[in-house]
Amino acid sequence: MAADATLEIADVHAGYGPLEILHGVDMLAPAGQFVALMGPNGAGKSTLLKTIFGMTTFKGGAIRWKGRDIGGAKPKDILSRGIAYVPQGRCNFPLMTVEENLEMAAYTIRDREVAAERDHVYGLFPKLRERRHQFAGNLSGGEQQLLEMAMAVLRRPEILLIDEPSAGLSPQAIAIVFAELKRLHDGGRTILLVEQNTRKAMEVAERAVVLRLGKVIWDGATAAISHAALGRLFMTGRLDDAPLGTGA
Ligand SMILES: Nc1ncnc2c1ncn2[C@@H]1O[C@H](COP(=O)(O)OP(=O)(O)OP(=O)(O)O)[C@@H](O)[C@H]1O
Ligand SMILES: [Mg+2]
Repeated sequence: MAADATLEIADVHAGYGPLEILHGVDMLAPAGQFVALMGPNGAGKSTLLKTIFGMTTFKGGAIRWKGRDIGGAKPKDILSRGIAYVPQGRCNFPLMTVEENLEMAAYTIRDREVAAERDHVYGLFPKLRERRHQFAGNLSGGEQQLLEMAMAVLRRPEILLIDEPSAGLSPQAIAIVFAELKRLHDGGRTILLVEQNTRKAMEVAERAVVLRLGKVIWDGATAAISHAALGRLFMTGRLDDAPLGTGA
């Protein structure tokens, strides 16, 4: 994995048409780090991931990936630069089998062997190999989330942007999804995870970025903030009596 796979967001303003949701966001996902993006509902977390992936109205600032500014670029160009995005909610093809879903994802990659790529992903996600002839729509919620991750990983991205993979899942399925995320990270990928489950996110992530009302209000090592202090931050936007200030 390239050492320069750092994502840097500087004073980004973006939204939907005339509506501005992100009001000057600054954040860093250093190469190979696991960063959790957290904050209350409506803070703009999904909007930030969509903005990185070129799916919102870009209004200003810079999004630097591997030293290049990709702010306002098109999703297909961003994808081709090694950035993968797994949106909130499941969106695979329910009436196709697991294998057909993976082949669909592989077909969009030029100059590569579909079968080899599919087998590579089965190696990463053995559960999907077991289920390969099952309709994707009949997978459990957790398995569908794994399939979504697999379809993104099939492109061998250097950074994975993933939006609330635990939403609606049982504790058991959440554990599987997080174990896979951790494994992808251990393999050298940079991960930017949006997550409501702060306890879980803080277990796996090295850094946390807290967004509120379209702005970053805290950014630092997860070890530098308690779960309780995070909760207060979400509610009030302040750390108040928290023992620690803004992290390093
Ligand atoms: N397509 C859209 N068009 C217009 N406004 C939108 C659109 N998508 C989101 N918004 C608005 O942008 C704001 C931020 O939404 P966003 O989905 O980024 O929040 P979030 O932090 O991901 O929240 P949640 O935790 O609920 O997923 C909200 O006020 C929302 O209503
Ligand atoms: Mg969201």
